Amino acid sequence: MWTVLKLLLLLAVCPAQRGICTEMKEGKETHQAPGHVSVVIVGGTGDLAKKYLWQGFFQLYATQVGSGHTFSFYGGGLSPDAQATPILFNILKNVSCSSDTPVERCALLRDQFLHLAQYRQLKTLEDYKALGQHIQEQLQGEGMVEAGRLFYLSVPEFAYADIADKVNSSCRPASGAWLRVVLEKPFGHDLSSAQMLASKLWGFLKEEEMYRIDHYLGKQVVSNILPFRKVNQKFLEPIWNRHHIERVEIVLKETLDVKGRIPFYDRYGVIRDVLQNHLTEIMTLLTMKVPESLSSSQVVLHNKLQIFSLLQPVETKQAVVGQYQAYNAEVREELNKTSNQFSITPTFAAVMMHIDTPQYDGVPIILSSGKMLDERVSYARVLFKNDVFCVQNPHSIHCKPKQIIFHFGHGTLQRPAVLISKNLFKPELIDEEWRELTEHKDATVLGLPLSDFYAQAPKVEREAYAELIGHILSGRKDCFISAEYLLASWGLWTPLLDSLLSSYPRIYPGGEENGNLLDFHLKRNEIGYVSDDVVIINPEQMGGATAESFQVMQGKFRGDDMVSSWGEELLVRLAMDLEAAAEEAVSEGGAFHLALSGGSSPLALFRRLAEHHCAFPWRETHVWMVDERCMPLRESESNFHSLHEHLLQHIKIPYYNIHPMPVLLNQRLCVEEDGGALLYEKEIAHTVNNSAFHFVLLGMGIDGHTASLFPRDKAHEKHGESMVALTESPVKPHQRMSLTLKAINNAHRVGLLVMGKLKHELLTQVSRVKDLPNKWPVTGVHPVHGKLVWYLDYDALLG
Ligand SMILES: *[C@@H]1O[C@H](CO)[C@@H](O)[C@H](O)[C@H]1NC(C)=O
Ligand SMILES: *[C@@H]1O[C@H](CO)[C@@H](O)[C@H](O)[C@H]1NC(C)=O
Ligand SMILES: *[C@@H]1O[C@H](CO)[C@@H](O)[C@H](O)[C@H]1NC(C)=O
Ligand SMILES: *[C@@H]1O[C@H](CO)[C@@H](O)[C@H](O)[C@H]1NC(C)=O
Repeated sequence: MWTVLKLLLLLAVCPAQRGICTEMKEGKETHQAPGHVSVVIVGGTGDLAKKYLWQGFFQLYATQVGSGHTFSFYGGGLSPDAQATPILFNILKNVSCSSDTPVERCALLRDQFLHLAQYRQLKTLEDYKALGQHIQEQLQGEGMVEAGRLFYLSVPEFAYADIADKVNSSCRPASGAWLRVVLEKPFGHDLSSAQMLASKLWGFLKEEEMYRIDHYLGKQVVSNILPFRKVNQKFLEPIWNRHHIERVEIVLKETLDVKGRIPFYDRYGVIRDVLQNHLTEIMTLLTMKVPESLSSSQVVLHNKLQIFSLLQPVETKQAVVGQYQAYNAEVREELNKTSNQFSITPTFAAVMMHIDTPQYDGVPIILSSGKMLDERVSYARVLFKNDVFCVQNPHSIHCKPKQIIFHFGHGTLQRPAVLISKNLFKPELIDEEWRELTEHKDATVLGLPLSDFYAQAPKVEREAYAELIGHILSGRKDCFISAEYLLASWGLWTPLLDSLLSSYPRIYPGGEENGNLLDFHLKRNEIGYVSDDVVIINPEQMGGATAESFQVMQGKFRGDDMVSSWGEELLVRLAMDLEAAAEEAVSEGGAFHLALSGGSSPLALFRRLAEHHCAFPWRETHVWMVDERCMPLRESESNFHSLHEHLLQHIKIPYYNIHPMPVLLNQRLCVEEDGGALLYEKEIAHTVNNSAFHFVLLGMGIDGHTASLFPRDKAHEKHGESMVALTESPVKPHQRMSLTLKAINNAHRVGLLVMGKLKHELLTQVSRVKDLPNKWPVTGVHPVHGKLVWYLDYDALLG
């Protein structure tokens, strides 16, 4: 039987831990009556316990020697005692002392720690009852006053409620002593599952008894963001606002993949795994109001929570997502999926947020994280505007970026530190636990030499879990996630996660090879990838791709070229291609003949052309119609009318270069003997070299029609050699005038723009079928000498 050894007072007390959560101020929350503490790690032989928890509790034990507290430690698990006891002791033998502990003292501490620990099977309610009884008997036997009981649940999320139930019913201490139950993320999967878990737990535990861990809050630089802001308030107050801050970046880059963790990771992805918790915590610490005093957990938690009510909702266009190339092969392997399974779980994401206050209005706050990137580093930086114009000596310090970098770890610096550009201000040290960083002179941080910064670093580096374990004992709830905060955070992220469900991530190769593929740019209210590259991946690398998604990767659709991306990006690309085609045609023959369709898809394209393409050679461009509804042009449903609204009236195009279709002749609409179609055909023949348009832009209807060529109209047979024809639509207005397949296929270049989820089903069908222009007129588009390019957005392509 193990017995509790009374602590030896001759062992000196270690220096108190510092940081926001650890200031041992007088106050209700931190004032602890000394007494006996029983620590139970449920899952005590698991990975986390092995790697961090026992080491953390040993450190706690070592620092608490002489404080008046006494301890006993229990490793709990599902296995029987005989089997698990040796495993537990192998782990416990591994704990190490801090480097400044004398060897003899360390040996003594470790020996005592081992004597205070035991394994207990914790499976049934009886097991928990027996534990509760054991603790009670021990307290009585040794005549000790109980301070509290700490249960650390290092088990999967689904087991929380059941264990909490058992702890509540059989392990509660007598009144006067505390109960603290520690939980590890994940805390739910979205807002409703987090709510469900929270209310289940509230049936067994009071909110004040729950300690939800985010180990980032135990990182020394993270826990000192507020103290740094506080001690440097006189410098920061005037510049911590939208007039001076250019943007805020919170970044966690990793080089590893997620092999071995796929069953967990594939259900979560990078946003749930990193952004919703760690990066959001840091975001609130950077932007919250700094309290008058940091010693009250309640005020700190309140100010943190306040940020959520000021954040603007995050829209889909404020996020970009990516997935490393080998991910799907790993999913297939670890989840035993068949080869047509295709996961779109993101392994990289960047999200832009805005806080809607006069202080931060318009300041982009970027949260970004990814697996398989070029380096392992995590930092947050506040980048300030620099209004200095350097005429000479661009390397002098006042020409450089002005920034504050909270460097959490790794990177080339390989250590936690806070860095302030020398052209900003000379900061105060956070407290006596921090020192100026004078070594690492050759290191660079975000591309700048360390000598550009005033840098400070903790004198002693501490492991996050050890820090947090200390905070549990001192009851500093501000180092943990409150239920309100958790639900507010899920409330912020859940709508974005839902909207990204159908979003196709950009595939990246991983490591250095990513090059600039994941770079993104910020606009006022959206972010997007900088490069338009479509990554081409072969089937072996893709592993799990289905036939359709494979065609995405190939950049081919129905044997023709395909460009595919997000809707907005797709239009950017199409507009660029149009401008390039225009320039080429004008330089070769002096004119550009462009035929445009009606419909809603191209309207955003027209606006983009009008607003962003100032160099487009409109003076040399002739605009033709692909099709027209038989109605007066001034009516808003006329294709020409919407073309005029969205494009023609905004550009400088000569009047005589505009060619509406003659649907109204002799005061009547589209009458065969008025010869409107023939008239248009002649106008084309007269103006366009060989009647070959340089660019014909088409769309596709959900019935497979293109231009105004409808299924079952047998249009292409009836039209023979005509270039323009009157056609019949199944929907009103029925009468149309349209270019024929003959005219379309005579063009130098045809672009087929297909956007939106509604088109997905047909697109999937069309991707597989042979040419059946009677059934799907769009399959009859094959330029004889020219080239067809499909412009497909991800909604249409992937549904
Ligand atoms: C003990 O530590 C060593 C070295 O750090 C490690 O290789 C070993 O796996 C650890 N053993 C246990 C049981 O944790
Ligand atoms: C704990 O269990 C008791 C019954 O043993 C119950 O009355 C109580 O509501 C439970 N929950 C909390 C938070 O104490
Ligand atoms: C996949 O199959 C292997 C071998 O049949 C099995 O051991 C493993 O548990 C399976 N994994 C999953 C997630 O079903
Ligand atoms: C007209 O087309 C022919 C052949 O298609 C070509 O040789 C000629 O250069 C073109 N003329 C102009 C003015 O583009």
